Amino acid sequence: MVKFTVENLKFKYKNSEKIIFDNISIDINQGEFLCILGKSGCGKSTFLKLLSGLEMPTCGSIYYEEKEIKKASLDRAVVFQDYGLFPWMTAGDNILLALRQKYKKEKKQNLKNLAIEMIKKVGLDESVYKLLPKELSGGMKQRCAIAQSLAVDPPVLLMDEPFGALDAVTRVKLQDLVLDLLSKNTEKKTLIFVTHDVDEALFLADRIIVLGQVPSSIIFDENISNIKGNEKLDRKKVFENTNILKLRNDLISIINNDINKKI
Ligand SMILES: Nc1ncnc2c1ncn2[C@@H]1O[C@H](COP(=O)(O)OP(=O)(O)O)[C@@H](O)[C@H]1O
Ligand SMILES: [Mg+2]
Repeated sequence: MVKFTVENLKFKYKNSEKIIFDNISIDINQGEFLCILGKSGCGKSTFLKLLSGLEMPTCGSIYYEEKEIKKASLDRAVVFQDYGLFPWMTAGDNILLALRQKYKKEKKQNLKNLAIEMIKKVGLDESVYKLLPKELSGGMKQRCAIAQSLAVDPPVLLMDEPFGALDAVTRVKLQDLVLDLLSKNTEKKTLIFVTHDVDEALFLADRIIVLGQVPSSIIFDENISNIKGNEKLDRKKVFENTNILKLRNDLISIINNDINKKI
């Protein structure tokens, strides 16, 4: 089933003359783990904002489950680049706030229990509930942001370079965590994940697209789940796969050639 349909999307921000997207058309399927690659400034975050409904197309249309997107929805949770936690609220209250949007009439204690359950699910101690974001490491904040978005259990997760600010070890742990949490879910979530890290995309994705330089369009689009086969969850095997290594080189040169072309 098609989850999103993007049709002849053109976009520029209202306060600027710069055209960000020239003409983008793409279908994104239910249950797909789609990674979006591209250099800084090519419009990756903007594309997520459009899919979430936080920005509207200048021309063209975006449909979610065949209905045109008119505003943001709890069906499409966004995990932002900068964690998206309010600094003046504890980690627990941040999660509670998200839960309250969905469960408007639920007793506070029940939501609190659910928040603590999610905190534990992402591998944190429940004492984190009472801590402010500034008292948490980058990895812990990112786990809280994941807990927050999973707590509302949306069918679609939009993640904007969620691990970009983390050290390599924490990053690998959180990549595994996301795949693990997804595999335990009965209904397959649709994940749209922005990264500038080719290896991260190769490890996580079923499908990879690359955005070119602005005014940007899709310059690469390939389903890679067949190439990965059963080796999907095994990092070592994925990167021993010669087809994946070839694709890795291709992706790096696609991204770089595009830059050379436009400078
Ligand atoms: N709120 C905004 N208003 C005007 N221009 C913006 C805004 N946000 C981003 N841009 C511009 O849009 C382009 C794409 O930005 P962005 O989507 O953040 O790229 P990426 O996430 O790929 O780094 C950049 O040129 C950026 O300067
Ligand atoms: Mg960005």
